Formats: sequence, C-alpha cells, structure tokens
Amino acid sequence: MVEKTTDNRKIEQKENYTALVSELMAVRARGTVPLAYIRTYGCQQNVADSEKIKGMLSAMGYDFTENVDDADFILFNTCAVREHAEDRVFGNVGALKALKKRHPSILIALCGCMMEQEHIANRIYKSFPFVGLVFGTNFLHEFPRLLYSNLISNKRIFKRGNDDKTIYEDIPTKRDGTFKGWLPIMYGCDNFCSYCIVPYVRGRERSRDFNNVVNEAREMINGGYKDITLLGQNVNSYGKGLTNSPDVSFATLLKEIDKIDGDYIIRFMTSHPKDCSKELIDTIADSKHISRHLHLPFQSGSDRILKIMNRHYDRAKYLDIVNYAKAKIPDLSLTSDIIVGFPGETYKDFQQTLSLVEQIGFSSLFTFIYSPRVGTPAAKMEDPVSAEEKSKWFTELLNLQEQISTENCASMVNKTYKVLVDGEKGKDDELTARTSGNIIVEFKGNSRLIGTFQNVQITSARHWILKGQLV
Ligand code: 5AD
Ligand code: SF4
Repeated sequence: MVEKTTDNRKIEQKENYTALVSELMAVRARGTVPLAYIRTYGCQQNVADSEKIKGMLSAMGYDFTENVDDADFILFNTCAVREHAEDRVFGNVGALKALKKRHPSILIALCGCMMEQEHIANRIYKSFPFVGLVFGTNFLHEFPRLLYSNLISNKRIFKRGNDDKTIYEDIPTKRDGTFKGWLPIMYGCDNFCSYCIVPYVRGRERSRDFNNVVNEAREMINGGYKDITLLGQNVNSYGKGLTNSPDVSFATLLKEIDKIDGDYIIRFMTSHPKDCSKELIDTIADSKHISRHLHLPFQSGSDRILKIMNRHYDRAKYLDIVNYAKAKIPDLSLTSDIIVGFPGETYKDFQQTLSLVEQIGFSSLFTFIYSPRVGTPAAKMEDPVSAEEKSKWFTELLNLQEQISTENCASMVNKTYKVLVDGEKGKDDELTARTSGNIIVEFKGNSRLIGTFQNVQITSARHWILKGQLV
C-alpha cells in the first residue's frame, strides 16, 4: 500500500494549474475577485474534503460567498449514504438551472460520493446539461487541472472511477473553524457491510503516514485548535498496511498525539465494534486529552441481522467491549448508529435492538431507516416490511431513546464539567458548550468565552437540554 506520494511532477503540474486558473479568473470573475459557493452534504469526511477544495480554491485566488447568486463557481460535495441525501442533491442542482441561464459564465460542479456511482453520473450527464464539471472522491488532487481544463475548453468534464490508493499529502486545507477542526487519518473502507455504499464510492482503506498525522495535530494545537476530531470510516483499524511503520495502531497514534503539550481535546470517529480493542479503551482511560466519548455504531441488536449485515461481531461481543469501557471510564458517554428495517428484519429482531438500547443507556443515537443502495448486496435482498411499519418501529426507538436521554441528563444535574464553549445560542446572552463526552450544555456568559474551556455546573435538565452556570 502506498502511504504517501510526493511525486514532484504531479505537484509541479498542480501548482501550474493553480496559477493558470488564478490568471484566468482574475479577468473573468463577475466581481473584483472570483467567488466560490461550496455546499457540503453528508458526513465529516465530506466536510474535511470540502476544506481541502476550499484550500485549493483559495490558492487559485477565489474568495467564498454564502450567496449562490453571487458565485462564479458553484460546487456541491455530495453524499450517497442514503436515498434522502441524494434526492436533496438532485432537487438543489435542478434549482440552479435558471441561475446558469441568467449567468452563463458560472461553472456548476459536483463532487463527492454520489459522483462515484455510474448510474448517478450518467443521470447528471443526461438530465443536467448545465453541470460542467463532475469529479469523484479520489480526484481531489486533480481539481485544479480539471477546473482549468473546463474553464479554457468550456467542455463538460466527468472524472470518476476510484482505483487510486495514493494519499496526496500536499493539498492545502482551509479549515472552516478556528478552534474546532477535522483531521483525516485514513480514507476508504474495506468492511463491505452489506447495506453500505461507502466502500464502493470511497475505495479501499488506506491510512495516512503516522508522523504526518502527529505533525498535523501538533500544528493544529500550536495554531490554537482546542477540539480536534480524528476522522476515518473505521479509525480502529488505523495503521493496517503502513509499510514504513508496521507496529502502529490507532491506540499508538492516540498515545503519541496525547503527549503534545497544550489545553485541547481529541475526539475520533467512527469506531467499528469488531476492531475496538481493550488497548484502545485503556488508552482513553489513561489519557489526558482524549474525549470521554465513544461513538460505537452497533446497527442492530439481533445477531441474525448482524450476520446478514456482515458486521463481524455479535451482541455478546458488543456488550463485552461496552461493559469493559464503562468500567474503565466511569464518565464515558456512549453513542451509536442504528438502522431500522434492514431487509428481512422482523419485529422480533427489532425488539432485540430496543432491548440493547435499554440495556446500554446511550447518551444519544443516530437512527436511520434502511435505504437501499444500488450495487450493495442488501439492495438485492427481499424486503417485505412496509415503509409504514418501519416508520412505526422507528418512532418506538426514538421514544425509548428520548426517555433514556432524559434520565441521563437528569443524572448530570448539580455536577460540574469542564466544557469547551463553542458558540452563541442566539438569545439572552446564552452560550453553547460541549462536555468531554460531547453533551451540549447551555449557560449565560459573554461571547468572549467562545473557544475557551470553562467549568460549568449543571443546574437543570429538560429532556436532553442541559442548562448550567459558570463556576
Ligand atoms: N441505509 C440506512 N442507513 C445507512 N447507514 C449506512 N448505510 C445505510 C443505508 N443503506 C447508516 C449506518 C452508518 C451511518 C453513517 O449511516 O448506521 O453507521
Ligand atoms: Fe459502511 Fe460498514 Fe464501512 Fe461503516 S464500516 S463505512 S457502515 S461499510
């Protein structure tokens, strides 16, 4: 596996194209500087990719606008994980037709996971002729060249098909936040859960070089970042295939980052239960900076369904790791992803999900109704349960979790937590902040506190909304 390329020829070419776009757009922009509008759908990995695209656009002289009508370049970074996300993209792209008609010089582009699917790219090609540039998840490094090619030729460019395992370390990043930031540590996924499109659209799993990740974390911490989330589809398998550092694991990486001096918190997502080691739990327990939070998607509480999902763990193994984690980290906050209505799931299977939720007591849940994805094994399975029935089960799960979250929050009242203040609520001088366990707390305070750690005592809990006061 290739961990890093610094193929000089490619870098030189990229810099050339960056300069060429910059020269071209300096005269073609509708305003004094070319403006880009970037809209990101889906997960944090997409948010991190968009930050790279913004870094490249900045280097090409672009500034950014929140108003799509003002833009010279419009890009949607798309998500393919569920049908609903795709429908939103199609709707929002369709709405750009009139804008393109009014300002033909605008370039409309699409990238991200949806574009890696052949049937989607074909539909865009046929039904949305005003989309000029399409590129898949593994062509970020080629973005300046693709953009330049389109701008000088005015020909539609479609670039997809991800067989490239290279990690391009030299792409600039323009982070959206100044004290909270994403740090990708690996890309792709090899797990092929039977419902999931990710391995097909993001390619094979590959880890970034250990030292590059640690150095980037250090730069971020020294640059004022207080809350850094390490990103990967399956962070627990970080390090597999790294030929120049064969002994590293995700736990080793966390331990190394934890040694960096400073006042900061390290979060990570997503963990896969099959690879979540006791060493990792011990590392969190013994660390100074690692968040007391484990996002550990279990998807279903039924062993029968877990097997068909190709998850490689069962309920007993999941409980084993969770119980170990709870014992080792008493203030641990647990969250999970759950799919309701997987093909062939019966109400009896679903009750197993309910009972696991009840047994564990998650702080919060990300719950999804199963959505068939073209090309995945599950999409070909018999799915006899009606949408109405699935929706009833879904509501039952939401109601149960609401009750549990309410109890969890009530148990936090009168306790004091160190929180990172992350924004204003927008009324009554109220600020929002997050605990190490990623639970949101609201309290009165001056907006100058945003971006700092504070101690807050919880004064009341209404459902899952915690109110507190500065200590
Ligand atoms: N349908 C519904 N939910 C899905 N997820 C992934 N694929 C699907 C699908 N086809 C959910 C899983 C995953 C989360 C990111 O999205 O719960 O953990
Ligand atoms: Fe999808 Fe499973 Fe990979 Fe997560 S681990 S991205 S659910 S295939």
